[in-house]
Amino acid sequence: MEMHTVCKAGSRGMLTNPGPILLLGAPGAGKGTQAKILMAEWAVPQISTGDLLREMRKDPVKSISPLGQQIRQVMDAGKLVPDELVQAIVLERLQQPDTVKGYVLDGFPRTLPQAAWLDATLASGPNTLPVVAVSIQVSYTNLLRRASGRRNCPVCARIYNLYFQPPLQDTVCDVDGTPLAQRADDTEEVFSERMRTYDVLTAPVVAHYRTQGRFAEVDGELPVGEVTQAVIDAIVRLRS
Ligand code: AP5
Repeated sequence: MEMHTVCKAGSRGMLTNPGPILLLGAPGAGKGTQAKILMAEWAVPQISTGDLLREMRKDPVKSISPLGQQIRQVMDAGKLVPDELVQAIVLERLQQPDTVKGYVLDGFPRTLPQAAWLDATLASGPNTLPVVAVSIQVSYTNLLRRASGRRNCPVCARIYNLYFQPPLQDTVCDVDGTPLAQRADDTEEVFSERMRTYDVLTAPVVAHYRTQGRFAEVDGELPVGEVTQAVIDAIVRLRS
């Protein structure tokens, strides 16, 4: 018997045990934005490999190690960190007790070897639910505006966009008043490289999960709330 329950709460689907959820999509598609909403909605953690790597970069000891410097170089160039390293980070995170009911993986897997590793790891793990994957689709032009306009709060991690979701006051966080920051890889030049990397290495991952079933595509050009509803509807449908 599958260990999850689906019930309808108003127009929102509520899953008591959502299981492993993958949010796929190009840089700036809205994976992080949606993952944070799902995390609050279903009380499961967001596991963002980009955020975990950025945390490592902030660590005073790890950041000056040869590995820390390699990570910085690779990320700032818009390329991918080696599979083995990211897999080790994800494995450690998946072993935390808060992942028991499920989790939202955002930014992983991004290569076919990472996908094969994840499939094998989950198949031998304790959570009996299979992965469901939702791919968020956005045009290149909008992705570029989203990346170049993105700002985030270094304290509470809330994500803003100067074009689409501006803060109430200039460039400070609505929640805690902290000055907003811009990611080093959100320049136009690095964004182009991230897109090239996505097309070559990550688009095949989307194809992989499409052929496995338990896969849905949503229109990521809609307002955030409408994308959320489409993502939730897709996950509830894939889980029922
Ligand atoms: P990562 O941090 O994962 O970056 P990414 O995949 O490029 O995705 P982004 O964070 O840029 O975008 P997002 O889809 O989360 O969009 P967001 O919600 O912020 O990775 C960074 C780097 O780390 C990689 O380049 C690589 O070097 C390394 N890395 C990470 N994972 C790795 C892995 N598995 N293997 C190897 N290396 C790895 O939204 C973007 C903007 O749009 C925001 O401003 C937001 O406010 C706005 N927005 C969102 N939704 C909407 C909407 N519906 N309408 C209007 N605006 C919207």
